[in-house]
Amino acid sequence: MALLIRNGTLITASETFRGDILIEGEQIASILHPDSDIFSLKDFNGEVIDASGKFITPGGIDPHTHFDLPMFGTVSSDDHYTGHKAAAFGGTTTVIDFVVHEPQGFSYSVERWLEKAQKAAIDYSFHMNLTRFNDQVAREIPSLLDMGITTLKVFTAYNGRLRLDDGSIFRALRIAKENGMLVMAHCENGDVIEALVAEALAAGHTTPEWHAYTRPAWGAVESTLRLAAMAEQTGAAVYIVHMNAGGEVDMLRYARERGVKVMGETCPQYLFFTVDHLRRPDGAKWICSPPMRTEQDNVRLWQGLADGTLQTIGTDHCPFFFDGTRPIVYEGEEIAIPGKELGKDDFTKIPNGLPAVGDRLPILWTYGIRAGRITANQFVALTSTHPAKIFGLYPRKGALLPGSDADLVIWDPEKRVTYGVAYSYHRTDYNLFEGWEVVGMPEKVFLRGKLIVDGDRWLGGRGQGQFLKRGPGEVL
Ligand code: URP
Ligand code: ZN
Ligand code: ZN
Repeated sequence: MALLIRNGTLITASETFRGDILIEGEQIASILHPDSDIFSLKDFNGEVIDASGKFITPGGIDPHTHFDLPMFGTVSSDDHYTGHKAAAFGGTTTVIDFVVHEPQGFSYSVERWLEKAQKAAIDYSFHMNLTRFNDQVAREIPSLLDMGITTLKVFTAYNGRLRLDDGSIFRALRIAKENGMLVMAHCENGDVIEALVAEALAAGHTTPEWHAYTRPAWGAVESTLRLAAMAEQTGAAVYIVHMNAGGEVDMLRYARERGVKVMGETCPQYLFFTVDHLRRPDGAKWICSPPMRTEQDNVRLWQGLADGTLQTIGTDHCPFFFDGTRPIVYEGEEIAIPGKELGKDDFTKIPNGLPAVGDRLPILWTYGIRAGRITANQFVALTSTHPAKIFGLYPRKGALLPGSDADLVIWDPEKRVTYGVAYSYHRTDYNLFEGWEVVGMPEKVFLRGKLIVDGDRWLGGRGQGQFLKRGPGEVL
């Protein structure tokens, strides 16, 4: 049955206008402008939703999640169902998750991740971590294209685990360039971190803030410039993930002004929090890599978003329980998953990562748009349209256009809530934005034309998300 959403105010990456959206099946059939398009309700026998006084955006796309990720002797506490459900309540209808690079090769690794994602509740795709490199791996990289994976993530930190040396990254960039792939980079200085961590532990420093002190911003800054330099030298496109330091924005700007194909993502945690949060008694809640920096860094990241130096806001959603010995009730069942308490005596054992996938859009609506830091159109660009374009999903996703998937969020701009665990739906026992006053929340969320969130009612389900094979993306 067709669905007509009437009288809403539509927000896209470039325009805001009053309009009606006609949905047929899973796609948007047309966008009707009330002043120019005549549409007679008399002849329409589908369902009608009146969105007067509401805003409508394309469903959010989170290009950076880690569901069901084994790490630090435990596993991230949202899986490909619970994390998708939380995303949907927060207005996100597509996620791109990172596949662990197993020694058995890419095909095995992707199959394993596809099995885990059978329970998907929203649409999803994968990036491939590239955490081992030799001639065999090099030959295998183009096979990812047939699996619909066009993006590789490399790490300049996590020595002995995920990091590749610079020569291997350089070779991977060449292969990416030859095959039209995009390389995503986690930028920190692994060697400096290793030295500082050893010193800190030897001196008996075990508390969470030492996580930040041992991962200096300058490491992120020089590593960002290093990747930009390699992008220039190989002609490959590079996307810097989870940018956290003002100096990284400067490096990105420097490279982009010189025509280097380098783009950047930041995440809510780097816009709102600082190292001070790690000094709190519950500082472990804020532990992620790279760490949070200073208020000055927050400001410079906002500037980078507003002036177009940065292209996206993802989340790096990788939640752990704060106290994984105490169960929470999730969908009627008690669950506890070992979490941050694993590092109560040693910051290096605190699982790195935090919850954010459901928070991103509601928090940015209030503290980005309403606070005047970004416009509503920039909000849509940064959280939906740009990720769709960069990661080869546009215009199927990230757009309010005829033929696009009907992934839509109807926002109630007047809804006021005191945000926190009660609104975020993550499968964990805390929320970083607990107690924040939010004005404007997703009211209805549609995935390919199907209503999956209606106020506080969950109408989605396991297995309803589709795997999205991606083609090449755009360099923005
Ligand atoms: O702390 C984080 N970010 N954990 C996830 C892995 C990564 O580096 O993105
Ligand atoms: Zn990373
Ligand atoms: Zn990540």
